[in-house]
Amino acid sequence: MAPRLAALPAPAAPATDTDWWRTAVVYQVYLRSFADSNGDGIGDLAGLRSRLPYLVWLGVDALWINPHYPSGGADGGYDVVDYRAVDPDYGDVADLEALVADARALGLKVVLDVVPNHTSDQHPWFRAALADRGAPEASRYHFAPASEEPPNNWQSLFGGPAWSRTPDGRWYLHLFAPEQPDLDWRDPAVAEDFEATLRFWLDRGVSGFRVDVAYGLFKDAGLRDNPGAYSPTLFGHGPEQAMTWNQPEVHDVWRRWRAVCDEYPGTMLVGEVCLADLDQVALYSRPDEMHQSFSFRLLKSGWDAGVFGEAVSTALDAFAAVGAPVSWVLGNHDKDRQVTRFGGGAVGTARARAAALLLMALPGSPYLYAGDELALPQAVVPDEAKRDPIFHRSGGARAGRDGCRVPMPWNESEGVGFSPDGAADPWLPVPADWSRYAVSRQSRDGGSALTLHRRALALRAAHPALGSGTATVRVDGDVLTVTCTGDGETVRCVLNMGTGTALVPGGTVLLASSTAVRPGVLPPDTAVWLLDD
Ligand code: GLC
Ligand code: CA
Repeated sequence: MAPRLAALPAPAAPATDTDWWRTAVVYQVYLRSFADSNGDGIGDLAGLRSRLPYLVWLGVDALWINPHYPSGGADGGYDVVDYRAVDPDYGDVADLEALVADARALGLKVVLDVVPNHTSDQHPWFRAALADRGAPEASRYHFAPASEEPPNNWQSLFGGPAWSRTPDGRWYLHLFAPEQPDLDWRDPAVAEDFEATLRFWLDRGVSGFRVDVAYGLFKDAGLRDNPGAYSPTLFGHGPEQAMTWNQPEVHDVWRRWRAVCDEYPGTMLVGEVCLADLDQVALYSRPDEMHQSFSFRLLKSGWDAGVFGEAVSTALDAFAAVGAPVSWVLGNHDKDRQVTRFGGGAVGTARARAAALLLMALPGSPYLYAGDELALPQAVVPDEAKRDPIFHRSGGARAGRDGCRVPMPWNESEGVGFSPDGAADPWLPVPADWSRYAVSRQSRDGGSALTLHRRALALRAAHPALGSGTATVRVDGDVLTVTCTGDGETVRCVLNMGTGTALVPGGTVLLASSTAVRPGVLPPDTAVWLLDD
């Protein structure tokens, strides 16, 4: 493949305390699986609070916590019953406030998850709407009159039709599970209520929100059929799903939310926008909308220098056009772990480590999913223990997401230190060999994935070229080079994605993903950071 170049302008100024998010390293905490303080087998806020020193030691700037709200339990907390409360499994509002205060004292920001596309079917609004079709709450959802067939061909992302019947025979829309009825954002009461929710948490000192399904919210007003079916092999939704996603009205919501955040300096919004076209994704982070919208392309990129290079340069171009930093994602709670995606075993691990160096070199804001710093593989979760509605709704045809959501291994004890001694079984079973990945073990091992991440983050903080510079992307055969420049310094991140050894030019080795890397010589599946002399 011919070399490819993409030169991009730098952010106007280095990040200040109000625009910390431009270059922040954000650590994603899957709350239920992070740390259990009270021995019920469920991770909680007090457990997370006790582990904040670990996050400081690791070197991240902020944490985003997956939903902490009281929930119907149908979709890992993404079916919210009360947006201004804490699920008793996780603690209470005072625990959240204590977490925020401790984090702040340690220099960490706390970002919450907010779920505006749908509520739980247990939410008081939906219950009121079911009980009385004339209730004001009924116009906050999408109901359609009883009929033989659903109103259109829309499909749930979790499988099957996006319409289910109410007990009295009406249809209601759910683009996810039936327990997650979609809100109708054309009713102004919905927008007002969410703004009250934002203020509720902002008043408690949080530094912003990760916005779930931010490209949803509005649907085609005429409920017209979608032109085609979605395929999970695509980078995201596109014209084939034009009636359910990315309606122009949604941008006004982000303008209003941005105005709310602007009243709280130093707060930010990062949107989940799963659209194939990154230029469309970037429109969600125009200066008066959200601060960031995730760049998910690397999540779905196979181990190929051309594909990776394209993912990086397309994202750099798309977000530069709107003046927003790129928020880079290699892993999250919805995708198989990198180690497994990239081939599993030693090869998958080597690749995951190399890819992590790329992620942390790039300009913008990398998101690290808890456990990725340990190079955890996708865990095997027995079918009977699985919780994910994707597994159950597909009749087992799709494995589901439980394997990237199992508890964090903290130490080498039998329970891997997730819960106190003598606790109940963890909510998802921990694989028998999980202690080999434990934080306690890896923190003592100079060659571990954890040490690699910690070193990388320290170097990123020390070298303005990394994270806050400009980048150019070049692909030579199987070798991807991202040249990062900032403050008069140049650092090249070189990734060998081929099967043969690659020769790389000189420079001081700042960090290598493997001890097999030698000056000038990059074995397959490794990466290096080279400081230009
Ligand atoms: C987002 C979340 C995912 C959830 C879905 C529905 O994609 O990341 O976990 O299932 O929204 O809320
Ligand atoms: Ca607990």
